Amino acid sequence: MKPFKIRDVLISPPLVLSPMAGVTDVAFRGLLKRCGGVGLTVSEFISVEGLTRNNPKSKRQMRFYDYERPFAVQIFGGQAERMRMAAEMAEEVGADLLDINCGCPAPKVVKHGGGSGLLRDMPRLETILTEIKKAITIPLTIKIRAGYYDNNINAVETAKLAEACGVEHIALHGRTKEQGYKGRANWDLVRQIKEAVRVPVSGSGDVTNVEEALARWRETNCDGILIGRGAMANPWVFRQIEDTLAGRDPFQPTLADKRNLLLEYFELLREDMPELPAIGRMKQLAGQFTRGLVGGSRFRQVLYHSHAVDEILERIEEYFETVAAGRVYVGEGEATADEAAESPALDSCEAATVEV
Ligand SMILES: Cc1cc2nc3c(=O)[nH]c(=O)nc-3n(C[C@H](O)[C@H](O)[C@H](O)COP(=O)(O)O)c2cc1C
Repeated sequence: MKPFKIRDVLISPPLVLSPMAGVTDVAFRGLLKRCGGVGLTVSEFISVEGLTRNNPKSKRQMRFYDYERPFAVQIFGGQAERMRMAAEMAEEVGADLLDINCGCPAPKVVKHGGGSGLLRDMPRLETILTEIKKAITIPLTIKIRAGYYDNNINAVETAKLAEACGVEHIALHGRTKEQGYKGRANWDLVRQIKEAVRVPVSGSGDVTNVEEALARWRETNCDGILIGRGAMANPWVFRQIEDTLAGRDPFQPTLADKRNLLLEYFELLREDMPELPAIGRMKQLAGQFTRGLVGGSRFRQVLYHSHAVDEILERIEEYFETVAAGRVYVGEGEATADEAAESPALDSCEAATVEV
């Protein structure tokens, strides 16, 4: 795998933080960028109806840190005129790329012809891409699924149409709309698209570690790899892949790194939004991130029942201190000697080397 360009925008390393509505807001993207190895960040999908009607939430979703660059704004909608207007707004705020969502399976999105709805309406897709292409100067990119229906896989056809309309990068999540998130993503379609078009092609779906990323790349010859859910469980996965590509040992986070990551994320969230949603998002990441950590499930329960900022900060400190000391985490007040004696033995070495 090597860096690639979308026109003059360098994606280096060739690893993309996959857009996830409700997750990849500016705070999460900033956090992942700080962890390292992310070559491109993408906004959550943003409603063109919201943007073009001056909805404050939609406008907030276009914000990005300058250190994120290159940064793509992803929009969704089914109406060409609104899509064009929203694309112009994304260019105005300084996005490096404009990405069209052709994958969202949500009924309220599909109903209006947007998201994966575009995969079963090629004329509409063509009109939208052509209109947008005329209106913006930054590169236009597209993220698609394998197809809308399980019995009509049309990703290659969609990719060719997109290229003919001037799209400069194609990302494929190899599941159909009907499939949702079930089963495994079909990466052979990534290979087929790569063979069928000349613009760079990236693949998405089920990559969670270095080995899977390299295997998918070898099998498909794709230019880039997107990682979504895997980045919530292991925010250093991009850095680990980058290290491997550079011939270095992949970064292994210490317990202190993990603690600091949660605290840093909470700080970024609180800078960006009111307390209540910040706490909600913090719990969401903690829920994924602590899977596999010693005492993680108890920690998740305790966090879940914490409702104030100070309480959450205390619980985080308490949890990591307990694990670092090799003690069993039981939540508030910590383990009594008797409880600890009843729990399975755990030495601090084991505690410090748990994989995320
Ligand atoms: C919670 C969630 C929200 C998502 N939101 C978006 C989105 O806004 N735009 C998009 O193109 N894909 C979205 N996706 C799809 C992901 O970008 C990705 O293609 C998919 O999850 C498969 O990759 P993964 O296995 O690495 O997560 C979302 C996925 C999840 C789990």
